[in-house]
Amino acid sequence: MKKTLTAATLLTVATFATTALAHYKGKIDAKKEFEAHCAVCHVNGGNIVNPAKTLHKKDRDANGIKSWKDIVARMRNPGPGMTKFEKKDIPDVEAKAIAEYILKTFK
Ligand code: HEC
Repeated sequence: MKKTLTAATLLTVATFATTALAHYKGKIDAKKEFEAHCAVCHVNGGNIVNPAKTLHKKDRDANGIKSWKDIVARMRNPGPGMTKFEKKDIPDVEAKAIAEYILKTFK
């Protein structure tokens, strides 16, 4: 009986782990993703490396970043000083969610 319980517990843990790995197939927490990947440099939508290129609308407009596609394009092919994020780092669906979060959060 004790053995059976342990096996059941392991199975439960494995199921949770799989769910966590597949998280982007479900609902994406864009705020969390932003904080994990971008906030080190873009804290509160700013830019600690290049203060002229923040994520706020005024700077985005000045730098031609108008839509979520432009933001994803920067992630895939960034300017000097920014980490490059490829599909294997941040899949397209997640990249889009982060971009939309930026558009609606940093005005
Ligand atoms: C290591 C620091 C760093 C990280 C991490 C980082 N960035 Fe950047 N980001 C920069 C720098 C530096 C620039 C300005 C690059 C340039 O001169 O074009 C920039 C520019 C941008 C711009 C253009 C803003 C403008 O007004 O021109 C966008 C959009 C952007 N980053 C999005 C992101 C997103 C989304 C993430 C996370 C997935 C991210 N960045 C992570 C440093 C970073």
